[in-house]
Amino acid sequence: MAASRTKIVAGNWKMNLDRAGAKALTAAVAVRTAEAAGVELVLCPPNVYADVVGATLAAGGSPAHLTLGAQNMLDKPSGAFTGEVSAAMLKDVGCTYVILGHSERRTLFGETNSIVNSKTKAALAAGLTPIVCVGELLEEREAGRTAAVVTEQIQQSLAGLTPAELERVVVAYEPVWAIGTGKVATPQQAQEVHALIRALLAGLSDAGVASRMRIQYGGSVKPDNAADLARQPDIDGALVGGASLKADDFLGIAAAFRSI
Ligand code: PGA
Repeated sequence: MAASRTKIVAGNWKMNLDRAGAKALTAAVAVRTAEAAGVELVLCPPNVYADVVGATLAAGGSPAHLTLGAQNMLDKPSGAFTGEVSAAMLKDVGCTYVILGHSERRTLFGETNSIVNSKTKAALAAGLTPIVCVGELLEEREAGRTAAVVTEQIQQSLAGLTPAELERVVVAYEPVWAIGTGKVATPQQAQEVHALIRALLAGLSDAGVASRMRIQYGGSVKPDNAADLARQPDIDGALVGGASLKADDFLGIAAAFRSI
């Protein structure tokens, strides 16, 4: 079953790099995509560099499986929303994907499941593919609340989507305690939550839709731990933060998913 899902590895650059660095990293990845043949790769730069990354991809004749994504957007089409960008704007500069509900958005910028739900619908309506992030805090895991928290996040963040819309969504499971900490979830811990998420997705649609949806793992993924994660039946790729800033590491992770 897992083999039929195209693996997807996305680099969340967060608020890093400058224009020259964004261009250089894009070019460095673009010339080596063959190392991750068959894996869909997504680069998610800060919005201000989306244009230069998109242009660099286009100039390099980048293969269709290397695409552009964004890290966030607003759920409104246009108007007086100082500092924000819309889904249509992201499409306009060549984005295919948009990360929504990343834990940094949830914890630092107050994004609730209801906001993530509204953004997910706006992204889908504009033709973007949302990468919807969920994941528990350390204290929630320690209190044995992981399943409850993830269940609520999935059910509320993806509420009201038709099965056809849901099928276009990528889910990223990112335990918050593993993000940027070097503390990766064990493959078993990750697989357990991925299996739960797939069951929840089936509950929101049906087993067929859920079996075709991609669920990424995120949180301190590195080339040396990617292979064990990639072997898990319900882990269909990775959402990579720190390691996506180095072409070698990003491609090393992607290559681990290629070989599965
Ligand atoms: P990390 O970040 O790989 O640096 O832990 C992952 C993420 O925030 O998506």
